[in-house]
Amino acid sequence: MDINTKLKLNNGTEIPILGLGTWLSSGKTAENAVLCALQSGYRHIDTASFYGNEEEIGEAIKKSGIPREEIFVTTKIWNNQHNNPEIAFNNSLENLGLDYVDLYLIHWPVPQRLTTWKILERLYEEGRCKAIGVSNFTINHLNELLKNSSIIPAVNQVEFSPYLYQQELLDFCKKNNIQLVAYSPLTRGDKLDNNNLVAIAEKYNKSSAQILIRWALQHNIVAIPKSSNKNRIEENAEVFNFDISKEDMKLLDQFNEDGRYCWDPSEVI
Ligand SMILES: NC(=O)c1ccc[n+]([C@@H]2O[C@H](COP(=O)([O-])OP(=O)(O)OC[C@H]3O[C@@H](n4cnc5c(N)ncnc54)[C@H](OP(=O)(O)O)[C@@H]3O)[C@@H](O)[C@H]2O)c1
Repeated sequence: MDINTKLKLNNGTEIPILGLGTWLSSGKTAENAVLCALQSGYRHIDTASFYGNEEEIGEAIKKSGIPREEIFVTTKIWNNQHNNPEIAFNNSLENLGLDYVDLYLIHWPVPQRLTTWKILERLYEEGRCKAIGVSNFTINHLNELLKNSSIIPAVNQVEFSPYLYQQELLDFCKKNNIQLVAYSPLTRGDKLDNNNLVAIAEKYNKSSAQILIRWALQHNIVAIPKSSNKNRIEENAEVFNFDISKEDMKLLDQFNEDGRYCWDPSEVI
């Protein structure tokens, strides 16, 4: 496994196993972060219309000089855009300055999710996005979608870390050929000083952040840690020169405390 490692989605599209998150990166900071990540070898950028940084991300992609087809770009439709998903999609493309995205997600399981999904299916069939998927979907939401759609979502992007080890959801996704993508894989920074985590990190001579990222990758989960700091962007990509042992993976699995740093979709009917 290395920074170029990709996982195959259920439609054959390949997603790089490590991506850069960009929530709360804006303006020049976002542009510089993406440019820095691309220069450090990242080939996967996660954004959303909600983040308000699609333009800067598009600018960084252009400035990088890296061929478009080598970069995997994800964006998402936000909750107030479901009255016209096609316009939302077109706006995102225009903001990004791209003529397709690699992955287009329903950001949150809003009540209109099934009608929106039909439109995403059409956008996919028209070749305007290489894959479509969802985010913050629970097993109930996924079951509903599977029963009512012709295309199985390629991805479910959810909060996931040893502190929120959603094993049932992970197993469900694996069984149904839906790739799980872990957001807030660093617990938004909150647990990085946790003694038990630091002890494991010291054993491998790695940082806590690197252990959390590597843990996700070894579970065959795509991880999209966010940083807008050059050193930390590089640090978060230095996760391919060591293995966490089986025993330590088990130990990390047991860190679960169902702790969330983002929104909880389990109450959404
Ligand atoms: N679909 C959704 O609903 C959803 C929700 C949340 C997030 N996401 C996506 O997932 C991405 C990642 O999640 P996140 O941004 O919530 O949290 P995260 O990646 O778990 O943590 C980001 C925080 O950790 C800090 N950090 C990064 N690398 C570090 C390191 N090596 N050492 C110490 N601190 C470090 C960052 O600060 P610096 O920038 O200063 O380094 C930032 O404050 C988002 O950016 C977004 O793209 C999606």
